[in-house]
Order: sequence, then C-alpha cells, then structure tokens
Amino acid sequence: MYIVMITGSPHKNGTSALLADEFIKGAEESGHSVFRFNTAFECVHPCIGCDSCQCGDKPCVFQDDMNFLYPELKKADMIIFVSPLYYHCLSAQIKIAIDRFHGIDNALIGTNKKAMLLMTAASNVESIYNGALGSYHETVKYLGWNDSGVLLAYGCSTRADIEKTDYPKKAYELGRAVK
Ligand SMILES: Cc1cc2nc3c(=O)[nH]c(=O)nc-3n(C[C@H](O)[C@H](O)[C@H](O)COP(=O)(O)O)c2cc1C
Repeated sequence: MYIVMITGSPHKNGTSALLADEFIKGAEESGHSVFRFNTAFECVHPCIGCDSCQCGDKPCVFQDDMNFLYPELKKADMIIFVSPLYYHCLSAQIKIAIDRFHGIDNALIGTNKKAMLLMTAASNVESIYNGALGSYHETVKYLGWNDSGVLLAYGCSTRADIEKTDYPKKAYELGRAVK
C-alpha cells in the first residue's frame, strides 16, 4: 500500500513526531511505503479562495511545496494526518495544507482512500479532542474516504511525557496492522 503521511508539528522531535516515526516503522516492516510531508518545514501558502484552480482543472495560483504533495496525494491508498492539538483542533500548519486540498478536489473526492488520525495533547480531559475529531471525520466524509482509525494521546506535553506511555507502541502497532 502507498501511504502519505502529513504532519503538523514544528517540533522535529516532539510528541507527535514520535507517533509518526513509530507508525512508519510498523508500516514499513509490513511492506508498505510511506511518503512523509512535514507541513511545518515546507512552504505552503494558505488558500485564498480565488477558485482559479476550479478544484483542480487549472493550476493553483500558488506554486509552492504543495506541488510535491499533490502527486503523492493522488497516488496514495491511505493518508495519515499527524498533529499536536492546538486550541482544540489540528495545528494551523497542517490545516493550511488540508485547505489546499481544494486545489485538487476533483482528483481527491470520491476516491475511496483510507485515512487515519494520530494526535497528541497536554490535557487529560476526555472531551479535549472533540473539535479535532469532528473536523477530521467531516473531512474524510466530504472526500469520500474511509476512516481506518484514530490514535489520541492524552497527558503528553513533552517528549519525556509520551515516552513514558504506551502511545508510541500503539502507533507502531497501527502501522504494522495497515492492510
Ligand atoms: C499553540 C498551542 C496550542 C495548544 N493547545 C492545546 C490544547 O488546546 N489542548 C491541549 O491539551 N494541549 C494543547 N497544546 C499542547 C500540545 O498539544 C502538546 O504539548 C503536544 O504534545 C505538542 O506536540 P508536538 O511535540 O508534536 O508539537 C497546545 C500547544 C501549543 C503550542
């Protein structure tokens, strides 16, 4: 299976990066290949809603690093969204890239791809992910993709916190189990 992973943290060795690394380790051990796009370290301009792209019939007015992601997204069988929780949603960095899906909507909608969400947050409050989860599930539904599961890490402010938990192992196992 060809997997595209899109990450949203500016911390190269942060909590969500650890989940991303472990997921990739498991997925590659199971014979899958993964293309990783770290939005915080790429140049991605926010969508301005000009609709010049006509949802993919014409090029986006911004010729930036989305040009590396677009072809991989089209080819992907599965998309993994990985982000820290920022103000009850995915981070702005990853959200900007998701908004730019608009530029190739015609090639993405109804493609039956699989999707997964991996997130980390400082809080232990059970409802903390409600906003992010709502956004993820509606996005997957809109695109006609299929949710293959979510991993939500609670109580993880720092790398030291998450290293004491079994969340990294769970991410590895999710990667290993990809079918
Ligand atoms: C701007 C900002 C907003 C945050 N908002 C939340 C939040 O709403 N709820 C929460 O539990 N943690 C919040 N956090 C904490 C991060 O989600 C947490 O530290 C996470 O582990 C960081 O992941 P990373 O190391 O992959 O960047 C926030 C952190 C930042 C910097």
